[in-house]
Amino acid sequence: MTVPDIRNEFAGRVAVVTGGGSGIGRAIAHRYGAAGGKVIVLGRREEPLMETVEQIAAAGGSADFVTCDVRDAALMAEAIDAVVDREGRIDALVNNAAGNFVSPGENLSPNGWKAVIDIVLNGSFYATHAAAQHMLAAGSGSILNVIATYAWHGHPGTVHSAAAKGGIVAMTRTLAVEWAARGVRVNCIAPGPTETEGAGRALWGTAAARARVQGGVPAGRFASPEEIAESASFLMSDRADYITGEVLVVDGGQWLGKSVYTDGKENA
Ligand code: HXC
Repeated sequence: MTVPDIRNEFAGRVAVVTGGGSGIGRAIAHRYGAAGGKVIVLGRREEPLMETVEQIAAAGGSADFVTCDVRDAALMAEAIDAVVDREGRIDALVNNAAGNFVSPGENLSPNGWKAVIDIVLNGSFYATHAAAQHMLAAGSGSILNVIATYAWHGHPGTVHSAAAKGGIVAMTRTLAVEWAARGVRVNCIAPGPTETEGAGRALWGTAAARARVQGGVPAGRFASPEEIAESASFLMSDRADYITGEVLVVDGGQWLGKSVYTDGKENA
């Protein structure tokens, strides 16, 4: 058996990462670039995207950016088409862009619901739809959706995000079957609490909230964006060629450990 050499495994390939200007998206972009791929980060604001591109270039990788609000289907199609015109291909798409805030369901305004559904669920479909036109024509591609385990177990205060992420799981499984014979894989990754500014601000803004979240993780710590990117890069690579329609949970045991007391001991 030969062990694949993964150091340059994305050489000659092109990936688009939405929300690539920060957090997990930025780390995935770095990881793809570090393994020889060309990575295009997509987002609303030019400044953080440019910063990602400069960081990847400084590390010897190749990157570019495109500004686009994932909520605009027409602009998204234009952005993806422009990437393919320029680069000649699109091998991977990571739907990472997200919006979130904590609100009890009964206080959530219809507009608040819509903002998150538009970014997370609709935005992921728009990008997937646009990228799939090219991937299906080429007969290969990998689409990776960043979700959260509350897609299936729910979580108080995040009904908008949980519903959107749950929708993405259904979208993933449906399209994975539609496209499997045509070389396009569709998967999800479900990170647990990860050290990013965006999630920190939106979900664990105080030291007490942060401690409570950390106490609920059997591994006893948050993930680093880099370790989420490591798992993401596996699913984007040929090493995962036979994996489609799947959800890879990378959460330090968080969701399975929900019935465990925070000291990790059994209820004696
Ligand atoms: C209650 C809120 C609110 C809050 C916004 N709204 N923030 N309601 N509590 N904290 C309401 C507004 O009042 C408004 O409704 C509606 O939502 C839209 O708000 P806007 O600010 O106009 O929307 P917009 O500018 O489009 O911003 C979208 C956003 C924003 C989602 C609200 O936060 C955003 O763009 N965030 C992107 C970055 C982000 O959130 N990253 C974190 C992802 S972390 P009304 O009725 O007043 O008009 C993540 C991790 C998940 O997803 C997994 C963890 C384990």
